[in-house]
Amino acid sequence: MVQPSESDDTRRAFLRQGGLILGAAALLSPAAFLGCAGKPAGAAISAPEDLMEEHGVLRRLLLIYDEMARRLQCCKELAPESLTQAATLMHGFIQEHHEKLEEEHVFPIFEKSGQHLALVKILRGQHEAGRRITTYLLHQAGSSESRNFVRRAQLEAYLHLFTRMYRAHAAQEDTVLFPALRSVLSPAEYLALGRTFADREQARFGAHGYEPLLVPVAELEKSLGLNDLEEFTPKL
Ligand SMILES: [Fe+2]
Ligand SMILES: [Fe+2]
Repeated sequence: MVQPSESDDTRRAFLRQGGLILGAAALLSPAAFLGCAGKPAGAAISAPEDLMEEHGVLRRLLLIYDEMARRLQCCKELAPESLTQAATLMHGFIQEHHEKLEEEHVFPIFEKSGQHLALVKILRGQHEAGRRITTYLLHQAGSSESRNFVRRAQLEAYLHLFTRMYRAHAAQEDTVLFPALRSVLSPAEYLALGRTFADREQARFGAHGYEPLLVPVAELEKSLGLNDLEEFTPKL
């Protein structure tokens, strides 16, 4: 029989304390607890859950980038406006919202505690590299040279560099950095961080959070033939 480890005990203690705080918070009004009048109390999510949900949007945008790169490589038609729209969504939601949360509220926690310092340094550097690629994409997608053969090859290469880096980046955040927040924050700090994220999301996007942003993402998917999930199932 497997004996519970010390970390299991720590985790259980953490959850117990968190449960007490959640129980006390349930006595408050939903809006007071969440800092977000548009969501019921049951919809409260932790900071890592919030960030991982946002990674879901990132992954949908990466699939869009994949398809755009494929079309550029195969000399297939790709409307420059589609690339501009996808890069604008990547910039506005991922780089100006999601990454700002990480840079202002998550990375400093590890930098102060001295944990995962090497990883955080790389992640910060990748945010900067991602912004440079987005600036390039936004500049080139709208230029009259975007149909030029060499320019198409460059755009395809930059899209590929971006998707490769961000898949590795988000995987490390999801499996290493975000889970480690439990060990560096107290239960109260952990819950407060989730509340801060909900407030930031509401302040930036309104009462419904980022949900309305999924509409243009879905439209882009449809325009590129990515809207049918069943199409991704291999016919074996
Ligand atoms: Fe990040
Ligand atoms: Fe992230």
